Amino acid sequence: MRKLSIIFITLFAVVCSTLAGAQEPINLLEPDLKSGKLLMEALNERKSTRSFSDKQLTNEIISNLLWAAFGINREDGKRTAPSAMDFREIDIYVATQEGVYVYEPENKVLMPILNEDIREIVGIQEYTKDAPLGLIYVADYSKMGSQAIEENTKEIWASADAAFISQNVYLFCASEGLATVVIGMIDKPTLSAKLGLKDEQNIIFSQPVGYPK
Ligand SMILES: Cc1cc2nc3c(=O)[nH]c(=O)nc-3n(C[C@H](O)[C@H](O)[C@H](O)COP(=O)(O)O)c2cc1C
Repeated sequence: MRKLSIIFITLFAVVCSTLAGAQEPINLLEPDLKSGKLLMEALNERKSTRSFSDKQLTNEIISNLLWAAFGINREDGKRTAPSAMDFREIDIYVATQEGVYVYEPENKVLMPILNEDIREIVGIQEYTKDAPLGLIYVADYSKMGSQAIEENTKEIWASADAAFISQNVYLFCASEGLATVVIGMIDKPTLSAKLGLKDEQNIIFSQPVGYPK
């Protein structure tokens, strides 16, 4: 009987702690297509910024940001950024104070994948921990067709695809007065392990986003 009680109490504690730390999916809003500066103004203000305030981004800003990055802009599912052979192999992982999510443009939702603040390893430079969002562009080579394409072609194309997304983010940030910088200097083995990536998934770039300090 005593043994049963101990098992019950242990199970209860595990369930409670899991629920306490459980992350919910974050539903995103429809993009506001009327917002923002003129394209030429945004281009004029595009720049890299490496210092971030702790001011949080609203759900509206995050929704518009992710749609601008790689959202769906046509009925056939195609996106705001081009992708080689329309593979759409780049997934955007979003690191926040609450944990890490994956952007699902089809469902306009951020799906939780990790209940931990990993912003300090979004890049090897100190400032990544200060930005409220750390976008991580992860290529899934298994979405890039079969043997017809050689491995290094996949890497080159995935890098180009991630760069288009990154530029969309740069322009959105310029348009909204946000700070951002694309990052290549990443401890990829550490970040990949933390995100639980599969062998065929490769981190291309990351990109913190927040308000400038
Ligand atoms: C592929 C690539 C990788 C980059 N990696 C880093 C990086 O790891 N850390 C960083 O602080 N900036 C990084 N940058 C940003 C550049 O340093 C920046 O774009 C350059 O200094 C020009 O400044 P601008 O973006 O304000 O025009 C990277 C840029 C590119 C295109």
